[in-house]
Amino acid sequence: MSSVSISENLKRLGITSENHGTSTGRDFFSSGEKIESYSPVDGKLIGSVNASDHQDYEKVLAKAQEAYIEFRQIPAPKRGDMVRQFGNKLRAYKDDLGKLVSYEMGKSLQEGLGEVQEMIDICDFAVGLSRQLHGYTMHSERPGHRMYEQYHPLGIVGVISAFNFPVAVWSWNAALAWICGNVVIWKPSEKTPLCAIACQNIFNEVAKENNLPEGISNLLIADHEIGDRLVKDKKVALVSFTGSTRVGRIVGKNVAERFGKSILELGGNNAIIITENADLNMSIIGAVFGAVGTAGQRCTSTRRLIIHESVYDEVKNRLVKAYGQLKIGNPLNETNHVGPLIDQSAVKQYQDSIEKCKSEGGKFVVEGGVLEGNDYKSSCYVKPCIAEVENSYAIVQHETFAPILYLIKYKTLDEAIAIQNDVPQGLSSAIMTQNLREAELFLSYGGSDCGIANVNIGTSGAEIGGAFGGEKETGGGRESGSDVWKYYMRRQTNTINYTTSLPLAQGIKFDL
Ligand code: UN1
Repeated sequence: MSSVSISENLKRLGITSENHGTSTGRDFFSSGEKIESYSPVDGKLIGSVNASDHQDYEKVLAKAQEAYIEFRQIPAPKRGDMVRQFGNKLRAYKDDLGKLVSYEMGKSLQEGLGEVQEMIDICDFAVGLSRQLHGYTMHSERPGHRMYEQYHPLGIVGVISAFNFPVAVWSWNAALAWICGNVVIWKPSEKTPLCAIACQNIFNEVAKENNLPEGISNLLIADHEIGDRLVKDKKVALVSFTGSTRVGRIVGKNVAERFGKSILELGGNNAIIITENADLNMSIIGAVFGAVGTAGQRCTSTRRLIIHESVYDEVKNRLVKAYGQLKIGNPLNETNHVGPLIDQSAVKQYQDSIEKCKSEGGKFVVEGGVLEGNDYKSSCYVKPCIAEVENSYAIVQHETFAPILYLIKYKTLDEAIAIQNDVPQGLSSAIMTQNLREAELFLSYGGSDCGIANVNIGTSGAEIGGAFGGEKETGGGRESGSDVWKYYMRRQTNTINYTTSLPLAQGIKFDL
């Protein structure tokens, strides 16, 4: 493996060998324990971070509260201008940040750059929205009255993000939260702390150049104890959490307990239905990218293929051939298709899932395995694999964040849709067909029960313009496009009486 040199990129992003994990928008500080970030690409130490402790948490919260009072007075289009400047900085740092994402997280360089592009896109989207935070006006049933609704900021928005999209998910939340007048406290995954520090550094430049108050963008790099505080803190109006269903269940419960708002983006178990009317060339590309892209570590990764019996063998054989051509290795090398898993505990989960699948009767048509040797020194590289299964297997019902693809055969489309829906999760889904009836049935109320349902594209690679999120154990939250901004604001209905009498609603008489 060619050795990876990203020292110049790190320098430009303000990352050194020792960093602090707390920032309120100017400098960095922290007094907590050391976290080390090792690259899954080559197993080398990239840098260390002094984590945020409880005192840091309190400082950050106090700054965020103060900043909110000031920030909400800045008109929304002006807040949009701040986001516009942040987007422009991201354009300037795209190569550096994309490379760091790839090196610290392990996804391909193309995907690392794509992730930064998603950040730029959401900034552009948010800038436009900053002039469109519209409410309705409606006709009152009472004469001389006017009714309308308006949207006000919430206050402090907490963002807890996962390692697999170490920069984009924060930006989807932060860009919208800011234009809506909120301030943000970000607790990123401890597995990708340097990506978060780089993002905060870029924001801090905008904050300094515009002489913005501290506390608009805050970073806490810390363990779950601090995350738990954020979740339980009444002063945090909205918690946006991306992660496992197991942790999301706890987060959702704790936020609900105090009547806070939450956006939950939890596990997916995404399927593509390949019908007898599918374009098989497109189906194979969509399925392979969906299953092995980001080494199967996207919430939207394709986990299951539900294939019509008439094309089953052909699809299987073509997949086996395609998997034989996959190049696994350093994700910064553009000729490789598949990079490493995030760490060795992820490798262990991958191995355990393969074992469980076999013990339940799964038949592997492409075998998995952990790669060894000089090119795979981090011990995080695994072989994407494919198993023929029944949808009812416990392991198939479960989301494993790894490149394991399950094949399931079906006879009728009703049966395929039932199989697609028969998992606890409900994030992304797709159908491959050139038949209008099949496509429309899949998209109808009797079709896919997921938050995302696609026709003739795969399950991963959602654009920021749509609302992103899913149903059932995926948590029900939505992020990024469409009218998702409403999650970040509180809605108020106003009725104004401009007469000299006080008629009551519903015609009620109340004479004194
Ligand atoms: C995630 O996996 O957490 O649709 C988000 C996609 C990306 C986002 C995935 N735009 O795959």
